[in-house]
Amino acid sequence: MESKPYGFYPLGWDVRILEKHGVQDLSGDVYKGKTLFEAAPDGERVLGYLPDDIDYANPNVGEDDSLGDMPQGDYITIPHMQWMYYLPRICNHCTYPACLGSCPRQSIYKRQEDGIVLLDQSRCRGYRECVRGCPYKKSFFNAVTRVSEKCIACYPAVENGFQTQCTQACIGKIRLQGFITTPDTMREDNPLDYIIHIAKIAKPLYAQFGLEPNVYYIPPVHVPPAFLKQMFGAHVPEAIATYRRASDDPKLLGALLLFGSTPRIIHRYKVENGLAIGYDEQGDEVSRVPLKEPIYVRPLYDERYGTYRSNIT
Ligand code: SF4
Ligand code: F3S
Repeated sequence: MESKPYGFYPLGWDVRILEKHGVQDLSGDVYKGKTLFEAAPDGERVLGYLPDDIDYANPNVGEDDSLGDMPQGDYITIPHMQWMYYLPRICNHCTYPACLGSCPRQSIYKRQEDGIVLLDQSRCRGYRECVRGCPYKKSFFNAVTRVSEKCIACYPAVENGFQTQCTQACIGKIRLQGFITTPDTMREDNPLDYIIHIAKIAKPLYAQFGLEPNVYYIPPVHVPPAFLKQMFGAHVPEAIATYRRASDDPKLLGALLLFGSTPRIIHRYKVENGLAIGYDEQGDEVSRVPLKEPIYVRPLYDERYGTYRSNIT
């Protein structure tokens, strides 16, 4: 987890690769710039850089710092002139993983059955090309074991139909893990397909790098669009506008409400009678969430305890 615009781990990870990548053509609907694979210098497979040890020394640098000052006597207005937001950052289990492409030992592989990218530590010799190549800096060299390590997408859980631990443990209920399909085979009854391919409110991080990362973010609504466009692509304003209207689209609202509702992976869902209902791979129901939470209003005065309530809903 880091906060933007000033948080980074390792230090400056994204500004450094963006700077190396240089100015690219982001105008219009179609990205016409180079991917990091196309921008690789002669003799290298991907444009990257290796962080220094010191870059890993301050994980909390810039944490929670907002952009803009708050002079004495000032007050907050809408839209905010100060802003920051949290960016939960994990391995993206990319469709075209630069870590995999960079490793001269072929120690990294992508599983055909679920797309999970794994690093075989028994093959690894600590060359760190994966650390250099991954633009998201999600392959880490372990100085004690002398081999690298990365997220395993909780594959034992996924193999048993459970969502990853980071998804299950998220008390903010902001994560949903499952399987998306390609745009030409998308299914309206797959909540992730609906959110990503149909409503198009969730976007990959720095798609211009060309790795097709498989973590999608719903962009924060209060951040200047120019900053978000560089991070999440040209269609951020439409994504935010659709997200703001989510309550008008029961299918979208239902898919969003399934976040954090079950530890199981939801393969299909439907919305009916004011409920979003999720099903696992076998078609068994694993989640049932009301689109509108009922509100119970209690009397202000509690007869039993002879006292007034400060919160009556
Ligand atoms: Fe590899 Fe990095 Fe993509 Fe993860 S985010 S699959 S470590 S390139
Ligand atoms: Fe390959 Fe990275 Fe190990 S480049 S050898 S997986 S340190």
